[in-house]
Amino acid sequence: MKRITTPDISTFETKHIDRVRALAPECMVLLKNDGTLPLGAPGKVALYGSGARQTIKGGTGSGDVNVRHFVNVEEGLENAGFEITSKAWLDAYDQAVLESKKAFFKDQRKQADAAGANPLMFVLGKVAPEPSCEFPLDGEGDTSIYVLARISGEGADRLPEPGDIKLTQEEIRDILALNRRYDRFVLVLNVGGMVDLTPVAEVGTVLLMGQLGTPAGDVLADVLTGKRYPSGKLAMTWAPIETYPSTKGFAEPDDTDYQEGIYVGYRYFDTVAADVTYPFGFGLSYTSFSLTPGSPYVDRQTVKVPVLVKNTGNRPGKEVVEVYCSAPDGTLEKPFQELAGFAKTGELQPGVEEMVTVSFDLRDMASYDPAAAAWVLEDGLYQLRAGSSSRETTIVGAVYLSERIVTEQLRNITTTDRFEDLSLPRQTEPMPDDAPILTADPAGIDTRHIAYIRESEPIPKLIKQLSDEELANLCLGNYKDAEDILEIIGNAAIHVAGAAGETTGWLNDYNLPHLVMADGPAGLRLSQEYTLEGEIASGAPAFGGDMMLVFEPEELAAMVPQEDPNAEKKESYYQYCVSVPIGTDIAQSWNRELAEEVGDLVGSEMERFGIHTWLAPAMNLQRSPLCGRNFEYYSEDPRLSGWTAAAVTKGIQKHPGCGATLKHFACNNQETNRFFSNSNLSERALRELYLKGFEIAVKEAEPHFIMTSYNLINGEHACNRKDLLTDVLRREWGFRGIVMTDWLVTGGMGSAGEKWPCASAAGNVKAGNDLTMPGMPSDKADILNALNDSNHAYALERADMERCAARILNKIYELTNV
Ligand code: BGC
Repeated sequence: MKRITTPDISTFETKHIDRVRALAPECMVLLKNDGTLPLGAPGKVALYGSGARQTIKGGTGSGDVNVRHFVNVEEGLENAGFEITSKAWLDAYDQAVLESKKAFFKDQRKQADAAGANPLMFVLGKVAPEPSCEFPLDGEGDTSIYVLARISGEGADRLPEPGDIKLTQEEIRDILALNRRYDRFVLVLNVGGMVDLTPVAEVGTVLLMGQLGTPAGDVLADVLTGKRYPSGKLAMTWAPIETYPSTKGFAEPDDTDYQEGIYVGYRYFDTVAADVTYPFGFGLSYTSFSLTPGSPYVDRQTVKVPVLVKNTGNRPGKEVVEVYCSAPDGTLEKPFQELAGFAKTGELQPGVEEMVTVSFDLRDMASYDPAAAAWVLEDGLYQLRAGSSSRETTIVGAVYLSERIVTEQLRNITTTDRFEDLSLPRQTEPMPDDAPILTADPAGIDTRHIAYIRESEPIPKLIKQLSDEELANLCLGNYKDAEDILEIIGNAAIHVAGAAGETTGWLNDYNLPHLVMADGPAGLRLSQEYTLEGEIASGAPAFGGDMMLVFEPEELAAMVPQEDPNAEKKESYYQYCVSVPIGTDIAQSWNRELAEEVGDLVGSEMERFGIHTWLAPAMNLQRSPLCGRNFEYYSEDPRLSGWTAAAVTKGIQKHPGCGATLKHFACNNQETNRFFSNSNLSERALRELYLKGFEIAVKEAEPHFIMTSYNLINGEHACNRKDLLTDVLRREWGFRGIVMTDWLVTGGMGSAGEKWPCASAAGNVKAGNDLTMPGMPSDKADILNALNDSNHAYALERADMERCAARILNKIYELTNV
């Protein structure tokens, strides 16, 4: 690793920014176009809206990236040659928004102090309200762009209210006025998730820009002018918030009941044939396409659906072909359809065709039957639909299976008895006369049996020599003796400034190297500048953004390491990382090569800055649009999530010594009271939806790490669940990496007044959760107590610790000996 000694922009940054600029148009989704887009040559433009100058490049919290500069929309349009005629509006809005933020965070500080809470933890994820203001909409020209922005982040959920999911009265007023006033009007959505556009339905052109990282404004300008084109598709259904079954009971602090069972997103909306604003998989193009399905065929158990795509318009573009499968009802009720596979064309010029073939394994269409503790393919017809969104499909054939087949015989792990999952009548569509019916040979589909026996871990000699206390230390991160939460939240590494954590430093006698972990998923979150004392790097806190307004200027100054004025001035080093599009936008590209390239780009920055594992991809299911961290996640569909995560992981792990960390395993679907929120759900929903994406990514891409979630599942912390971490993850799926906890799950925040207890560090070890991050002295005490106390809820044997410690040590050797 060569340290960077100049603050000037490095060649790698320019190269990465250019690469993100080239890839990001594929992540944008054109929701509506009345012919206004593309605008063509830049001219005068009246630019308005919260995201015009205060553009959001990504969300807040650990998912933020400390870039040197990012291009906002105003700058991007000016770079492209547009003349902005609404500067007075932008200046006035800036002022209003700043005042709103200052007042909000000042008030939050008062509340935090009154509650005796850590101010940063208190405001984490909270967003100042949109200011209520009315400035003249008098920019010159015939073209106007309104950029609507929303931000969110870990620690708080989104609100089903104006200013968040809904538009404010002021936003509605201005958007409608502009739409009527200007000949050409574009509503641009600089958001990380769904917004309810019902009140502005009359607007004819809507572009979901998303949150695209460092070059955001330049990418938008490229797409608006037509130099580039959007080719993304939604990874989540957009509908009024009241209509999602997950809205009921969302953000209840103690227990969230996943009563909708398997009916999440389009699995629900398509089964009940409800009207939606924009369906799953939907996205337009600057051109048009025709899709002509060929004859599907079955090759052993692989189903193949060929589709001829033709560009029938007059501009270049790319199209995504989506294949859905409707499995037959049987013992188990099925959703109307599930995404089975997809393929994206290359760039098609007008008039040009491409034949794409979507393939999937019929076994992957199995459902989980808790009564049999098995994945089963029911007998009957598996209808195949191909099209360009979940609502624009045609039946292209079906596969007939004559027998019910158990594809995998497992053990049940956990379910809830608090409720019965939602049950819905299913509509069936008759098979068209000319649609071919293929036959799958039941004899060709075997049953996999899981043995649930412990794999023998190679235990390095050193492990046997370590004392119990040393072993316990190896199972914890590099904790500090003093438990200063502010210092360690997302900033607990000492060898790389601003990195989130690292493996133990308490075994220095043995000369162990450290594995360093840095956040994502929108790039690497590190301090921009640091100095060195031996090997110890110190820099400014790597948390930033509006939340820091909760501190007084003097408090902020005190957070920057102070140099002794009499000492020799230390050399400064620099870590300017590039921010990539947020997780949801990557998934919206429906392009695995693109996802892998993004991983590859981040992987090369990891090598440069000495990071061994990226705390990403984040891949919880987007169960509800209200989850404050959805922007970090991929999709409401577990397969699309799993395929995207697998591709990103492959990109990262191409780099020697670099690993990906899939997170947050599992059911971290709300941020409210996230340390103590219990997700109650059935085993079927758990396996088919919430574990499925992780299963795909683990099997396809073999990530080096996985991070458990804060929440509980059916009454026990996910990080303490042996059934999840050992039986499912390691024995059923064959995971061979390290499991680590999310930060401070074992009590850094206290648990006074909570219904549920904190997680236990001993419980982590017992469950096969190797590494408790970042670790605290109380964690070590808990582990050592559990070793000597058979009455401890998670009583341990030394062998339990040895197994976790051995896995960590082996991974340290593997990733540092490259
Ligand atoms: C977040 C994780 C993150 C970790 C380290 C936690 O608060 O939930 O996603 O990786 O901090 O910064």
